Amino acid sequence: MRAYAPTTITDAVLEQMVSTPDPRMKEVMEAAVRHLHAFAREVNLTPAEWIKGIEFMTKVGQACTPARQEFILLSDTLGLSALVNIMHDKTKMEEATSASLLGPFFRENTPKFDSGAQIAKKAEGAEIVLFGRVTNAQGAPLPNAQVTVWQTAADGRYDIQNGIEEIDCRGIFRTDDDGNYLVRTVRPLGYFIPLDGPVGQMVMSQKRHGMRPAHIHFLISAPDYRELVTALYLAGDAHLEDDVVFGASADLVAEIKEGDPACPIKGLPSIHFDFSLARESEADKRAGRVGADPAAVTASNGKETKPYGAPPPEVAVAAAGPKKSGIFGGLFRGH
Ligand code: BEZ
Ligand code: FE
Repeated sequence: MRAYAPTTITDAVLEQMVSTPDPRMKEVMEAAVRHLHAFAREVNLTPAEWIKGIEFMTKVGQACTPARQEFILLSDTLGLSALVNIMHDKTKMEEATSASLLGPFFRENTPKFDSGAQIAKKAEGAEIVLFGRVTNAQGAPLPNAQVTVWQTAADGRYDIQNGIEEIDCRGIFRTDDDGNYLVRTVRPLGYFIPLDGPVGQMVMSQKRHGMRPAHIHFLISAPDYRELVTALYLAGDAHLEDDVVFGASADLVAEIKEGDPACPIKGLPSIHFDFSLARESEADKRAGRVGADPAAVTASNGKETKPYGAPPPEVAVAAAGPKKSGIFGGLFRGH
């Protein structure tokens, strides 16, 4: 009868898993076991600590509903979503606009709009225009590309945070014959990621501010091109350098300009940003997205899908003061 020791148990587990039929599943699970065991050995994990970890992950699972994906939020705040995204982005066949996080607020249920339409129900005082071209990697226009946009309303909240039936500040557009897109929206605000659940508890216990810089999400697709999941980050935001989910990057920072003569809608501040798509490889077709509509990942578990709560007041106060942002690009990922 064999006796297991901290140094031999890992090989024993790998031996049992050797019969896994799917080679990729085998590779991934073997590495997961090796790294999990190495982690437990490195920190000399105690039984009480591991039960705490299991309790935490249980709470993360229990917090998931069709309107809320707490596991994606955990992956985001640990930088795992950003890591997977950056690795995936490096496999593009051609240089093109870089990717950013899909985040937990994307939803399949998004209304279609005509070019130039306003996506925000309440636009008074904060209207801006987004315009530019969608091209291939060589700069040729991509007509009829689908451009999906979503963002916070002018109060800094996503529609889904107010209830699963709410639809606001999101829309699907098409590019014209020259690859142009044109969207009217409102100036998004930087915001707290949802802090009213177990992931928020973790973030606050680590004394992190919990904020994302102001941004607008884009999902752009055209037949035979790799789908682009990205976002534009507003220049000057205090949290460009320390985004709590590590999504902001220098090449995706965009400026809101007053009176840009190139803007097709006159009299409104605007962002001009051109996107380029790489050709799609066979592997791209299977790669999927980092993130999903929560309703697509989490079947209803019978729980009510109640709105997200507000961040605790003490966190909101601590994060309100402007923070020095350092030199642009310092932290940004290296490509
Ligand atoms: C967002 O961009 O909407 C987001 C991304 C990751 C975590 C929370 C929010
Ligand atoms: Fe977002």
